[in-house]
Amino acid sequence: MEIRRIGVLGAGTMGHGIAQVCAQSGYQVNLQDIKDEFVEAGISKIQKFLDGSVERKRMTQDEADLTSSRIKGTTDLREAAKDVDLVIEAIVEDINIKKDVFKELDQICPEDAIFASNTSAQSITEMAMVTKHPDRFIGMHWFNPPQLMRGIEVIVTDKTSQETLDTMVNLCKKLGKEPGICKDSPGFIVNRLLQIWYNESLNMFDEGVADPQDIDTALKVAYNFRMGPFELRDLVGLDVALVVSETHYRELMREQFKPPRCLVMKVKAGDLGRKTGRGFYEYESKT
Ligand SMILES: NC(=O)c1ccc[n+]([C@@H]2O[C@H](COP(=O)([O-])OP(=O)(O)OC[C@H]3O[C@@H](n4cnc5c(N)ncnc54)[C@H](O)[C@@H]3O)[C@@H](O)[C@H]2O)c1
Repeated sequence: MEIRRIGVLGAGTMGHGIAQVCAQSGYQVNLQDIKDEFVEAGISKIQKFLDGSVERKRMTQDEADLTSSRIKGTTDLREAAKDVDLVIEAIVEDINIKKDVFKELDQICPEDAIFASNTSAQSITEMAMVTKHPDRFIGMHWFNPPQLMRGIEVIVTDKTSQETLDTMVNLCKKLGKEPGICKDSPGFIVNRLLQIWYNESLNMFDEGVADPQDIDTALKVAYNFRMGPFELRDLVGLDVALVVSETHYRELMREQFKPPRCLVMKVKAGDLGRKTGRGFYEYESKT
């Protein structure tokens, strides 16, 4: 199936970057969020990224202008669903909200549209089963920031058709990404493995073994990692991180997946990482 127009739902940390990558590769994009200010914030982050790319000579002004011209922002789900061949959902990590949105999309999208969820850890099968065509439902798990990270996990359920999988694998390649295929299971491949690494790092902080900065530095200098676990948690957003952590613990039922206390407390305090200006570290501006 040929993809021409893509609806991206959620203009937050992931959605705006996903919209940009799709538009940069020539696709028309409808970018939707629930409030005008969220749509505008997403579009202005895209503009900032494109301006920076032109300044650093990674892109011409014409390419940047063409990319922006392909993105249409809206708060109206019907408008976002109009004429799309694919919807990529990147809204809050809440399975019930996601299921409600997919039920609605099922009524308003073109009959043959593919639905993809960028969830970090929720069940793709559970979401697929609220639609009339689970054969055209798939997971498309991007990494943060979508503009820079090369990998995308493509998650299939028992109901996903071969045609849907082939279409998505081809799309990833057209977007300049490397698809990795995985069966539907908690955290897929990357997040499930990372979860243990994050948990032990945060548990060490809870136990007073070392501070976030010392743990991050130790890992970065030992293994040449670009970021440590606390920096990464702040980048992802601690609210998203907590939901993902809770899902792993609930679904895999193993103690090693239990959310660390410091993560729970940060979220209770509203210190969600870069997006609120404070998480395990302090930031001058919210991003
Ligand atoms: N942050 C990451 O590093 C990361 C990485 C991979 C996948 N994900 C997944 O991507 C999804 C989005 O995460 P995020 O970090 O971008 O979250 P975010 O909180 O930054 O953005 C979510 C956006 O969705 C919007 N939204 C909420 N309900 C909506 C609805 N009903 N319709 C449309 N928009 C709605 C919010 O207003 C917000 O702008 C989650 O499922 C998350 O697990 C996140």
